[in-house]
Amino acid sequence: MDSPSRSGVFEASTDARLESFAESISFDRRLFRQDIRGSIAHADMLRTVGLISDKDFAAIGDTLKQIEAEFESGDFPVRLELEDVHMHIESALIDRIGDVGRKLHTARSRNDQVSTDARMWIREALDQVDGLLEALQKSFLSRCDGDMDVILPAYTHLQRAQPVLAPHYWLAYIEKFQRDRDRIADCRRRVNQSPLGVAAVAGTTLPIDRQQTAAALQFDGVTANSLDTSSDRDFILESAFVLSMIASHLSGWAEEWILWSTVEFNFIKIPQQFCTGSSIMPQKVNPDTLELTRGKSARVMGNLQTLMLLVKNLPLAYNRDLQEDKPPLFDSFDTIIAMLELAIPIVAGSELQRERIAARIEEGYLDATTLMEWLIKKGMPQRTAHHAVGAIVGAAMAADVPLAELPLETMQQHAPEVDASILDVLGTQNAIAAFTSYGSTAPTQVRNQVTAWTKRLNVE
Ligand code: ARG
Repeated sequence: MDSPSRSGVFEASTDARLESFAESISFDRRLFRQDIRGSIAHADMLRTVGLISDKDFAAIGDTLKQIEAEFESGDFPVRLELEDVHMHIESALIDRIGDVGRKLHTARSRNDQVSTDARMWIREALDQVDGLLEALQKSFLSRCDGDMDVILPAYTHLQRAQPVLAPHYWLAYIEKFQRDRDRIADCRRRVNQSPLGVAAVAGTTLPIDRQQTAAALQFDGVTANSLDTSSDRDFILESAFVLSMIASHLSGWAEEWILWSTVEFNFIKIPQQFCTGSSIMPQKVNPDTLELTRGKSARVMGNLQTLMLLVKNLPLAYNRDLQEDKPPLFDSFDTIIAMLELAIPIVAGSELQRERIAARIEEGYLDATTLMEWLIKKGMPQRTAHHAVGAIVGAAMAADVPLAELPLETMQQHAPEVDASILDVLGTQNAIAAFTSYGSTAPTQVRNQVTAWTKRLNVE
């Protein structure tokens, strides 16, 4: 049988190779709930404006709900000639109620239909991702009180730089994921505009009410230009970008914790239920979840690239190329959701290796900047102090001791201002306490941030 989209104008039937080339039901069937909800709202509007009768609407609505239940149960028959989810549903409707079903597509095109469905699907998926990001923020936050006594090295260039409280790390990720959530909220506003009623490309001559369907489907408003709307996939690309940023944050975190869980760092133990073994080396407990989080982030970023390339040369308005937007879109959401669902328990359940961390925290001269700033407070120009402390660190390295154990006289050779009170800022514990600036790792700053986030995330 030929596709219902082939009108009387066709004299030849579809080549079988085109049928399987052009079908999208294999992936867009995921939109069936949105498609049915959109169709019911559309039919209701057709009734309100007098294009179909109350009786027609009742038959269409009831039958669409039956079809939805069949899709739900998973045994809805697929027929490739019906191309996509929209025509599968419409044709099932017509099979059951005949001419009344043939009225549903009045003042509608699959072009506005697919955009409506995709927007409804995405806004729900964005909400789900937002909820998972919030849960991940709470996982990081849940660690803060218990880890307040742990000092970690902060790294730049992956070289030990300055000491920070462990919760300063956790708060860093809370901030990153908050920006992701803010981006979701912003993106959602543009997703949530109703395209329904722009029909194919120029609108319709029929007396439809776009505001009605928009309100029924909980859109915030209606799109203003039919030509733009028919072509617009910005909302899909934006979503893919938002997800790529999340992927990037998760991948960086995963990389960091993979390093931290090595014998070389030995900062953290990942819960064993999220690790795998080696088939040959019995001692191995590998952080595969984190490695796959890093690895799968590539797919999410690749999907964004695919979508960018997909749309970049399209003339207005709808082009069939746009059907190719769904596999990367779905894949990005599926991948990010799976990554987040695993990150949440890993973050909450991993254990800092306190003793190992503490045993090596005085290595790497994390207090050198604090010493330099002490000299600046004594009136030494920064560049001079920077040079002098470099020489002091050099002397400490030669003696293989931390700064706090270097004789005062040695320090005074390079910086005569040094006196015994220097010991108040040397050593990582003192160095941490010496920080004061807003946003720094100063314990009061960190505690304030923990309190603020506890309130903001509504945690008891
Ligand atoms: N399956 C199509 C898609 O996803 C629906 C729109 C088809 N429109 C058309 N004019 N052939 O893009």
